[in-house]
Amino acid sequence: MPVISVPQAFNEEDLYVDLRPIFGHSLFLKCEGFNFAGSIKLKTAIEMVETAERDGVLKPESVIVESSSGNLGVALSVIAASKGYRFLCVTDSRCNLATRLMMEALGSQVHVIAAQNARGFLGARLDYVRALCDSDDRYVWLSQYTNPSNWKAHYRRTAPEIARGFPHLDVLFVGAGTTGTLMGCARYFQEWHRPVRIVAIDSVGSVSFGGPPGRRMIPGLGMSVRPPLLDEAYVDEVIHVEEVNTIRACRRLARRGFLFGGSTGTVVSGAMGWLDQHDTRDLTAVAIAADLGERYLDTLYQTNWLQALYGEDVFDSEEPPVGSRPADTHPADEAPRPADRQHRTRSR
Ligand SMILES: Cc1ncc(COP(=O)(O)O)c(C=O)c1O
Repeated sequence: MPVISVPQAFNEEDLYVDLRPIFGHSLFLKCEGFNFAGSIKLKTAIEMVETAERDGVLKPESVIVESSSGNLGVALSVIAASKGYRFLCVTDSRCNLATRLMMEALGSQVHVIAAQNARGFLGARLDYVRALCDSDDRYVWLSQYTNPSNWKAHYRRTAPEIARGFPHLDVLFVGAGTTGTLMGCARYFQEWHRPVRIVAIDSVGSVSFGGPPGRRMIPGLGMSVRPPLLDEAYVDEVIHVEEVNTIRACRRLARRGFLFGGSTGTVVSGAMGWLDQHDTRDLTAVAIAADLGERYLDTLYQTNWLQALYGEDVFDSEEPPVGSRPADTHPADEAPRPADRQHRTRSR
């Protein structure tokens, strides 16, 4: 029975969902949403704050400032509240309402950037943070996009957790935002006792791996500038997933009782496309689900939002309505149809 006195002391490390009954391929989905910040970013936040404390950068009078599309902001809100720091989150208009309200409930201040600059919303957010830090030296910018503690959190925790659970791991699918999770896991598994194929999953429209920029409405994955932490030498393959396929994967999971966040739909869609094209007999595959779905109820899981942005086609009309699936459907009957997805893949 875990008994804790600070929120960061609890984090479920060993929960996996086997997706075979839902998608027809065995894929173990590591669930990172079961902690008081509701996402994998709790690990990043702890590592960055505690490193800054050890380095003497963070002092009791400091105000932590960070640019975040949401999850890191919530995680830093939890840590700041727990440790008694003030925290200002700079986000943009794509941040979910629930996420913003959560940060405010935890005592943080939230600044929402409404207009993009030439480098997108991220560029506008970073300019704002820089100006703030120049104006007052009490502001401490942890800078998840450049801070090595971001990837170290996953090198120290996420990857060893997976290695403990899957000593015969063959392939790991990791979504790429700041690429902290990707780089931490990739670096760890490169030093491991057996080769692990590292497959990065990104959204179409993200420029992280050199693709053309495009509209991206689902927060979490993808960048409008190249991620400074990314070292492609550690990445074996990159798969780009269209947002409509992210949505379809999320809806399919939800209809089996698993309400995950948007980036999980992207990772699962990309991973299933990869598994469709490979011999999966005796293959151990793991993917990381960064958060859960409650934060996305007014976007990803909301019919009007989906129709306005993606049109009617986003709804997979051949999907059985909720509750109509025969109880004894064989998993192979549910294998995803390749035509459902349009991945853009490139190999190292
Ligand atoms: C929901 C979600 N998924 C995935 C990621 C990407 O993680 P990373 O920044 O480590 O690449 C994030 C980052 O904020 C996220 O919020």
